[in-house]
Amino acid sequence: MYPRNAWYVAAWDVEFAREKPEAVVILGEPIVLFRDSQGKLAALEDRCPHKLAPLSLGRCEGDRLRCMYHGILFDRKGRAVEVPGQDMIPHSLSVRSYPVTVRGTWVWIWMGDAEKIDEALIPETEALDSPNYLMRHGMIDYDASAHLICENLLDLSHLSFVHENSFGSSANHEWSNSPPFVTTLDRGVRIGRWIRNRRYRDGRTVDHWNTYDFLVPGILTMAGYAFPVGTADGLEGAPEAVAQDDVYSITCQAVTPVSEGKARYFFSAGVPRGTDEEARLEQLFKVTLQAFAEDKMMIEAQQKVIAQVPGRNFHPIGADRATTLYQRVARKLEKIER
Ligand code: FES
Ligand SMILES: [Fe+2]
Repeated sequence: MYPRNAWYVAAWDVEFAREKPEAVVILGEPIVLFRDSQGKLAALEDRCPHKLAPLSLGRCEGDRLRCMYHGILFDRKGRAVEVPGQDMIPHSLSVRSYPVTVRGTWVWIWMGDAEKIDEALIPETEALDSPNYLMRHGMIDYDASAHLICENLLDLSHLSFVHENSFGSSANHEWSNSPPFVTTLDRGVRIGRWIRNRRYRDGRTVDHWNTYDFLVPGILTMAGYAFPVGTADGLEGAPEAVAQDDVYSITCQAVTPVSEGKARYFFSAGVPRGTDEEARLEQLFKVTLQAFAEDKMMIEAQQKVIAQVPGRNFHPIGADRATTLYQRVARKLEKIER
């Protein structure tokens, strides 16, 4: 369920040192990221063609990367430009290069056909670098398949149970008892849900509108809006209009498949700028970290149980609707590539 003609999140741009190459693995492919002399990123296969040593143990030299085993120097396109001890450089001495770009403070890598590259397919994550929000971010490595994390994010009914002490705390299981509105998009699904009479940590009681897009290959952009109690009554779905002033919290998240049974989860949490912004973000981030530790505990345990009974199928329930629709879209995109 991973179309290759898609942009995958490889790193937080700000976490990325200038001097050192960095190893990442996406869809089982080892990749080395490094910056050239202008700070511009390059991404190459992390495997020197000479003796298959990792180039991520190499050294950045200007716009190039030197393998620190026997010293072959590669340019940002992956071509060998210097071979110690010989003048002749075989044409075949090269590694694959990957298109890489930075958008919304994330480093994105195109894993597919270089001829099909399309920057318009980078999901919109404007909150990540918008001056309107105060954001904080993090990253979690999972010993679990990216599929399981995507399924978790596509079905927030679990907030009532996994997160009964964090995100979903309430006596009446408001998340699992409020079915979402789900629509299919070209590259994913849009999910919205009213939580009526929700009590915020700041003491307010509101009708809370939670809405997010979940897009291939595992990118989530979500906002929560606060409306006066009673707003949701009589509405068939989304509020007629949402304004920046109504935003309570915002988040962008990405699930990157690393290899079989391993994934990397990039997340952020933000609040609108304004009074007490630091305190509001502190409170939100604290509960976010608690909730994501709860998810990790459950999903990694689930992965272990799945491994005990290979081939055993899941039994769907109504809450899986968004997951089913998303997987249908992802499979369709994958099929088009074949
Ligand atoms: S393994 Fe890279 S130069 Fe020998
Ligand atoms: Fe969760």
